Amino acid sequence: MKVLSVSSEVFPLIKTGGLADVAGALPIALKRFGIETKTLMPGYPAVMKVIRDPVVRMRFDDLLGEPATVLEVNHEGLDILILDAPAYYDRSGGPYLDATGKDYHDNWRRFAALSLAGAEIAAGLMPGWRPDVVHAHDWQAAMTPVYMRFYPTPELPSILTIHNIAFQGQFSAEIFSGLRLPPQAFSVEALEYYGNIGFLKGGLKTAHAITTVSPSYAGEILTSEFGMGLEGVIASRIEALHGIVNGIDHEVWDPATDAVLQTHYTGATLKNRAANRAAVQEFFGLHDDNAPIFCIISRLTWQKGMDLIAACADEIVAMGGKLAILGSGDPALEGSLLAASARHPGRIGVSIGYNEPMSHLMQAGSDAIIIPSRFEPCGLTQLYGLRYGCVPIVAHTGGLADTVIDANHAALAAKVATGIQFSPVTASGLLQAIRRALHLYTDQKVWTQLQKQGMKSDVSWEKSAERYAALYSSLAPKGK
Ligand code: ADP
Ligand code: GLC
Repeated sequence: MKVLSVSSEVFPLIKTGGLADVAGALPIALKRFGIETKTLMPGYPAVMKVIRDPVVRMRFDDLLGEPATVLEVNHEGLDILILDAPAYYDRSGGPYLDATGKDYHDNWRRFAALSLAGAEIAAGLMPGWRPDVVHAHDWQAAMTPVYMRFYPTPELPSILTIHNIAFQGQFSAEIFSGLRLPPQAFSVEALEYYGNIGFLKGGLKTAHAITTVSPSYAGEILTSEFGMGLEGVIASRIEALHGIVNGIDHEVWDPATDAVLQTHYTGATLKNRAANRAAVQEFFGLHDDNAPIFCIISRLTWQKGMDLIAACADEIVAMGGKLAILGSGDPALEGSLLAASARHPGRIGVSIGYNEPMSHLMQAGSDAIIIPSRFEPCGLTQLYGLRYGCVPIVAHTGGLADTVIDANHAALAAKVATGIQFSPVTASGLLQAIRRALHLYTDQKVWTQLQKQGMKSDVSWEKSAERYAALYSSLAPKGK
């Protein structure tokens, strides 16, 4: 079976969050189910710089107003179709924001163009290859099923995956003519959303199947608390909705081979984590003592509960913990975390920025990772924590609730616990969880058991890739 995946980020070419990890790992996991995936993504400068020997596959003279070329490359086991359209993607900022942190004014056109290119490939216009199924990710690719619905040729099956319903791609109705769709596309059954245009909303209405990245989040987005206004749209498609939890790439994230680590280890050689721990302490300027290191690797936003970390930082130090924080995001949160670090030198270290190698080392050298998200569709850092023996302390929400087994009395006695969950997601809820962690940490036998059990958790793509494969087959024309 042949699948066209459409994503605005793909690891290792470009990454701002978990979407990239998933779009980069799933095609590789699907290979063993006989699924051949080509992934269409924008030709951002970072991407154009690293690709080698691209082959031109298709040209557009006028893709929503600009010329574009589809280039094919093989990159680290991934078959990538790059939409090379300098007018859209050759910019000095990031994939979505300019150098000053503002959304590009033409994001609607940049990502409608990506989606339209996907729909044209789905329609068979790229010589020599046509998919059986199209899999679009998040709002940036959500126009793909919309364009497919209104394309003049028979429509292929499509799947839209919601990685985060907070990001919806909503724009003023004025852009409609620029999308070059027939008038009926501006309707409640497609793009129209309270008089405006919703890319994600349109995709949710037109895709044949909808998935999201954990079973719990699939339930949560049906509620007004988590649906961000789209709960009614989701409810109208409930028969098409599936929750499939993310896995992780076991080769990229393996403490037994990870090139970034000072020392490699497995569940049987946890003592080898010591050198990684020392390196984390050195990088973050933390005292070299037995106090546990709680790390945070995150976008610094309200969604991720980073204000709670800032609010609890003094208390965490007073209770005997150390904090190592890596992230970037909301300038006010960056400021309050840096201020906490200035108040507690040697106890709180903060690094503002994006640092992929350091994110690996922190999982390998910290004792626990704190993830106090207010909502979390899946979350990947708790999965990396499990794999690296870095005990996850997580809010009881979404994919965090689905992937961590709380160390309550029964789970500890049965030796199945893998971390700590807490709710409500408030400062006192978080402090209570840290207190429990510190208590468990005092008994090194119990703590080691938690680490080892976490390392045994199945966080691979195996089962979930099988579910995607089954979903593709259920939609694809018979015999594929
Ligand atoms: P989200 O996609 O909502 O940000 P996820 O937990 O799914 O959350 O994925 C975040 C990904 O980004 C993980 O791979 C994590 O390790 C990585 N990450 C987040 N912040 C940083 C950072 N400052 N430096 C390096 N990696 C980071
Ligand atoms: C989003 C979500 C995160 C999820 C990731 C990959 O960024 O916020 O929870 O893990 O997508 O699916």
